[in-house]
Formats: sequence, C-alpha cells, structure tokens
Amino acid sequence: MDGAVDRSQDTHARTSLIPATLIRGDGIGPEVTGATLQVLNAVGAEFEWDEQVAGMGALEDVGTPLPDSMVESFRKTRLALKGPLTTPIGTGFRSVSVALRKEFKLYANVRPARTMVSGGRYEDVDIVLIRENTEGLYIGFETVIPVADDPRAVAQSVAIVTRAGCERVTRYAFEYALAHGRKRVTICHKANILKAVSGLFLDVAREVAAEYEGRVEADDVIIDACAMKLVMDPSAFDVIVTTNMFGDILSDLIAGLVGGLGMAPGANIGADAALFEAVHGSAPDIAGKGVANPTAMILAACMMLDHIGESERARRVRDALGATLRKGDELTPDLKGDGSTEGFTDAVCRRLD
Ligand code: NAI
Ligand code: MG
Repeated sequence: MDGAVDRSQDTHARTSLIPATLIRGDGIGPEVTGATLQVLNAVGAEFEWDEQVAGMGALEDVGTPLPDSMVESFRKTRLALKGPLTTPIGTGFRSVSVALRKEFKLYANVRPARTMVSGGRYEDVDIVLIRENTEGLYIGFETVIPVADDPRAVAQSVAIVTRAGCERVTRYAFEYALAHGRKRVTICHKANILKAVSGLFLDVAREVAAEYEGRVEADDVIIDACAMKLVMDPSAFDVIVTTNMFGDILSDLIAGLVGGLGMAPGANIGADAALFEAVHGSAPDIAGKGVANPTAMILAACMMLDHIGESERARRVRDALGATLRKGDELTPDLKGDGSTEGFTDAVCRRLD
C-alpha cells in the first residue's frame, strides 16, 4: 500500500535495526510512550530510535515547539512514533502535529475504533475512519478583521480542498478497504450546504468509488446524520472517509464508542513517510499521575509494526493487549478501573505469547 515499506522478505532474517524518530511528547506523553517502548522491547521489535523533542517541552528547552533537528530526523527516517504534544496557547505557534502533517504531506489519517473492552454501550464496534489530513478548514488561512473601533469584529477561516487532495485520500480509503478485507466505504460530507468544498469532495469521492465497483461497496452520508447514526448503530459502518475537520470530530466520537480516547490510535500516512500516534492529546488533567491509559499509544505502535511488515509482532501485542483488557483487573481509571499505567503495561508484557 501507498507509503508502506515491504519488509516481508526479511522479517525473520533481518540483521539491521529500522531507524525511526521517537518523540515522547508532553503531559502524559512520556508515560504512554514509555509504556509503549516497554511493550515494543518485550516483543522484540527492532527499531533504532532517534529521540527528538517537540511541543511544549521543546519550546521550554530549545525555544521552539518544532525544532529543525526533529524535522531533519523525520526527513531521514521517514518513520516516527510520536507522543501527544501540547499546543502552546497565545505564542503564535500553531499545532506541531498539524505542521508535521503538512510538511511531510501525510495526507491520510487512519483512525480505527474497535471494541476491546466490554461494558461500553456497544460490544462489536469495528470502524476505520480515514480523515483527509492536509486540506480543508485546518490549513490555517485565518484572519480577524477589525471594524471601526472593534479590533476583533469579524473572523474568517478559509477552507480549501483540491481535486488531487480529495482523490488521493478517497483512493487511499478504497485501497485500504481492499487490503484489509473491508466491505464498504462510506463517504461523509456536507455537500448540501458547503457546495464548493464539500461538493468537490463528494464528486471526486464518487468518481473514485465507481472505479472500485464490484470490489468495494460505497455509499455516502451527510455529516450530521452520520454523527447520529454512529451513536445509534455503529454496526452500520465499516470504513468512513471524510475531510479534515469532520474527520477530527468523528474520530473522537468513534473513540467514545469503544471506551474513550485512551483506546484510539492513529496513523498519519503519506506517499513516503508515516507517523504514528494516539488520537488523544497530552491530557494535562492526569499528567504525571501514572494513570494514563497507554492502549491508544500501544495500538499506534502496532499500526507502525504493520506498516513495516512486522504484522506477526503486531498481532502478538494486540492479543496480549486484548487479553489484559478482557481480564480487566489492571484497567486504568478512564476504563473504570483503579490500575496504573505501569501495572497495566507489565500485565500486557507478561501476556505476550
Ligand atoms: P486530551 O485528549 O489531552 O484530553 C481529553 C480528555 O481525555 C481528558 O479528560 C484526558 O484526561 C482524557 N484522556 C486523554 N488521553 C487519555 C489516556 N491515554 N488515558 C486516560 N485518559 C485520557 O485533549 P485536550 O485536553 O483537549 O488537549 C490537551 C492538549 O493536547 C492541548 O494542548 C491540545 O492541543 C493537545 N492535543 C495534541 C494532540 C496531538 O499531539 N496529536 C491531539 C489532541 C490534542
Ligand atoms: Mg482531534
């Protein structure tokens, strides 16, 4: 698949380590990233980490949340595992995650949500959301316009999508469906109101869908109805593809269907680079308390293992994670347990087959 590295030939005989950039992140970042590295080591994953700083930590240490050395490292490795980064407020810096997605053209944000722990509203959620990651309302074309004596009288944010951008992300979604044995792709839009931006996305997505007729089913749904349907009957969805902001919102929604943000991993995929992270942020409210749920970050690392052709190790980690979640005696507070990040992670490592 686009952006994937085929190492299937040397999975068992590899002698060299795979270079990858590591960013532990802010807030709960170091806790969940530390847990993830512990699991990766336990399963024998062979990464050669180039550790870099970014975000609030980097702003304090080196004066910028987006240090050149971090960007250069990722330019070399083309592969990164990244903890959540706090976006500094009021400094003029935009989100580092958004900047990296733009700089490296990581156009597809793949966010799976699958039930792994029971007791939620639904027992059988299995949805993959694919969010366009570089265009739309998040491009940062924003202005505040003064009128008379009010310096903030009017605000505008401009959304831009391109035919090429719509095509590559929808094609990625259909290729993903084919590669992962998924039956249907649902195109999510608001073309009835946003006739230009969402209209172009829907037109292009339908053209791409037509090429996959007979191989992958396709349908489309308006974003607001989609939100309601997801909450009422998530089993009606398989793969969803949508534009940047709708995808941002819906990915937190589907995380909520499977236990919350602590359960939701994400992969940012480009033609020649990939960055893996949790959907959640730095969770300042629980940072440093040792209670963050590392599942999302560990699942992000599994997606990274899949990406480099290490699917067997990814399976072993997912199995151990699933067994630990089902057993339920080490669950972190977000999953209604009284366990810790450390206790949960140790339990996952013990269960690796
Ligand atoms: P958040 O995702 O950090 O937290 C939202 C809620 O979910 C909080 O109650 C938090 O405790 C909980 N939560 C999140 N992850 C959890 C985990 N692994 N285990 C247990 N509970 C968890 O979102 P918030 O508070 O809006 O953002 C905090 C900071 O993170 C902001 O600076 C924001 O810009 C940044 N952020 C960074 C992201 C990234 O680096 N990819 C993504 C989202 C937000
Ligand atoms: Mg988000």
